[in-house]
Amino acid sequence: MPVATKGGFYRLSGDLKIFYRKFLAQWFRFLWFIYFLCSDFSNHLAIMEVITTVALLRQRMKEARAAGKQIGLVPTMGALHAGHLSLVKRCVAENDVAVVSVFVNPTQFNDKRDLELYPRTPEADCAMLQEAGCTYVFAPSVEEMYPEPDTRVFDLGAVAEVMEGRFRPGHFNGVAQVVSKLFAMVEPDRAYFGEKDFQQIAVIKQMVRLEGFKVQIVACPIVREADGLALSSRNVRLTPEERKHAPMIADTLFKSVEYARTHTVDETIRFVVDRVNDVPGLRVEYYEIVDGYTMQPVRSWDACEFIAGCITVYNGDVRLIDNVAYRRP
Ligand code: PAJ
Repeated sequence: MPVATKGGFYRLSGDLKIFYRKFLAQWFRFLWFIYFLCSDFSNHLAIMEVITTVALLRQRMKEARAAGKQIGLVPTMGALHAGHLSLVKRCVAENDVAVVSVFVNPTQFNDKRDLELYPRTPEADCAMLQEAGCTYVFAPSVEEMYPEPDTRVFDLGAVAEVMEGRFRPGHFNGVAQVVSKLFAMVEPDRAYFGEKDFQQIAVIKQMVRLEGFKVQIVACPIVREADGLALSSRNVRLTPEERKHAPMIADTLFKSVEYARTHTVDETIRFVVDRVNDVPGLRVEYYEIVDGYTMQPVRSWDACEFIAGCITVYNGDVRLIDNVAYRRP
């Protein structure tokens, strides 16, 4: 039986102190654990919302802006791979709200068969986007995006007339139509595009200037397979034989950077075209060495501060594009 002596009282009080200290330490550990879960795994815990109507998208964006949130947008046509996800991850890291649009835009396909064959993998796309920490997926139907035909013609100027503009008439006007609609709906602070579609970035910047959008265009580097092939949604259409030959495109571009040190622009173009055309099944549609901002061909290596080589190659009937920088600002 405890004796209520002074010493005993002090002993009991000491036990209590130890008890409280242990109790507090346990609580602290528990709270820290919860904080760790919420911060480190917040991307996995957060619920992503799939939106299919323009009205709901506008509503969510209005709420986000009212709460003072920064909004990032990644426009895609789905069939997502690690190249798209690199854009999404950067968008998630740099913004409070990350919107990814998944829409196979018919107005930018000048080849009907290409549109029909374009891969569509909505379930896999959503799983990847949830994992990457995306806040909203915008996946509208064609009718929702184009309730009536879009007859707008953008005056995109010289950047849109060369290369893809020449070989895919109407393509960039279609890209400008859909991206300008997305910018008007989302009003993003930043929008993310891959350098894989090098000319597309210049065209989007031109459209932004024309339309006066207040959005920062963020260019992200090309993601490649281990063997160098640039990731593309169209790669799944390659037969095993075609897939085996495809890395020669990037290999040639990389080798040409070395070659360019001791050769002229014209010699370098010939080197690339001949080396790729020598590979069975590969056929170069065009290879141009251009000013990285204006997309106009350059004649010498000191013509400007940003110089890139852009290639389009048919591998069987799959059209692949890639590019390499010879000079960066
Ligand atoms: P899509 O081909 O789906 O590409 C969406 C974005 O992902 C583009 O900005 C593209 O450059 C980028 N991307 C694709 N492959 C990449 C890779 N290997 N590395 C880095 N980025 C890559 O481009 C379009 O869709 C459409 O034209 C679109 C802008 C969505 C308009 O419809």
